[in-house]
Amino acid sequence: MPGNRLALITGASAGLGAEFARQYAAKGWDVALTARRLDRLDTLAREIEEKYKVATITISQDLALAKSVDTILRELKEAGRHVDALVNNAGYGLPGTFLNTSWKDQAAFIRVLYTAPIELVHKVLPGMAERNFGRIINVASLAGYAPGSQGHTLYASVKAGMIKFSESVHAEAQAGGHDIHCTALCPGFTWTEFHDVNGTREMTNESPDWMWMKAGPVVEAGIDAVTKGQPVVVPGAVNKGLATLTKVMPEPLGRLIMQKQSKRFRKTE
Ligand SMILES: NC(=O)c1ccc[n+]([C@@H]2O[C@H](COP(=O)([O-])OP(=O)(O)OC[C@H]3O[C@@H](n4cnc5c(N)ncnc54)[C@H](OP(=O)(O)O)[C@@H]3O)[C@@H](O)[C@H]2O)c1
Repeated sequence: MPGNRLALITGASAGLGAEFARQYAAKGWDVALTARRLDRLDTLAREIEEKYKVATITISQDLALAKSVDTILRELKEAGRHVDALVNNAGYGLPGTFLNTSWKDQAAFIRVLYTAPIELVHKVLPGMAERNFGRIINVASLAGYAPGSQGHTLYASVKAGMIKFSESVHAEAQAGGHDIHCTALCPGFTWTEFHDVNGTREMTNESPDWMWMKAGPVVEAGIDAVTKGQPVVVPGAVNKGLATLTKVMPEPLGRLIMQKQSKRFRKTE
């Protein structure tokens, strides 16, 4: 009898990534968990093994490092496993303006949120094509829809890039006749550690509760969409409404609103 499928999840030590791990495990998938904090990954792995009776693998890697993707994939190969689902989820926001942040920090940001996820997709795709099965979720953001704002300068750019990239990978897989689905998941404000890490918790706490979603339904929407073969999904009615608004609103008005509003939830100095 063939073993369980394996989902590789980046940024699995917290927030959406940990929730992806739990939800895939609940569906009977084995999970490979990666992030920098191994203690957290190991605790989650023990919880998942006990609760869902699936196998887990934990790999501590800093995705900012050039060799990280190769190291993760080598460790999986050595464990005799291949990737059936990839969840490119690891991420953070870089506070402040482009002028006031170092190139070292910007380069690491681009690597963790853009280059490494794309490299992972590039390196797992051939195996997925060969086995004719693959599910890829790229965690983008509602920010990828909205006009660029002051502060956290590259965040919206990389997230917009991940949306387009996901659409293209999905289209290519479909055109090639492969059972490979690729989905960009575009959450809005979600309760995780994200805003604690980027130092905007106090600011974002002022946003009304109805703007926020819990990790559970966000992840559920992502898994559901990739299973169905939907290239982009915006979870939740409020976020869907906002995404639609950004498409129908005249661009100068959108920029004006973003310019004013971004100061309320982004560090702009
Ligand atoms: N929360 C929101 O409101 C929101 C909204 C839209 C989109 N998103 C996106 O959702 C994704 C998940 O974020 P989250 O909300 O779950 O935030 P979170 O709770 O802060 O989790 C972020 C995860 O990314 C990992 N990570 C950060 N830097 C890393 C690095 N250099 N190498 C490897 N792993 C790294 C962290 O693990 P370690 O620190 O252990 O390495 C952690 O597991 C991100 O891509 C974010 O942009 C979040």
